[in-house]
Amino acid sequence: MTWHDVAPADAFDEDVPKVVQVGEERVAVFRLEDGFYAISDVCTHEYALLSEGFCEEGKIECPLHQACFDIRSGKALDEPAEIDLATFPTRVEGGVVQFQL
Ligand code: FES
Repeated sequence: MTWHDVAPADAFDEDVPKVVQVGEERVAVFRLEDGFYAISDVCTHEYALLSEGFCEEGKIECPLHQACFDIRSGKALDEPAEIDLATFPTRVEGGVVQFQL
């Protein structure tokens, strides 16, 4: 497990994700009102990038078929997605947001 830098914490706007690619994994990192959260950026239904979807109230809506996921838990909230997203621990180290993978 390694910590990966994303961006300085003050460079994040609320509900606007920043995406980092680590090997095969694309991770989207969000600033929500209570902290930073990292999820897999790829929808579990078909191939779509959640970072291109609509984010509101801690949820992200897939841009392809509009399934919603809870950003904090990764839980798939409605159809057609049935599989939860992977989530990753985050921390702020020296003012920089990081996630662990
Ligand atoms: S690809 Fe995301 S809901 Fe279908």
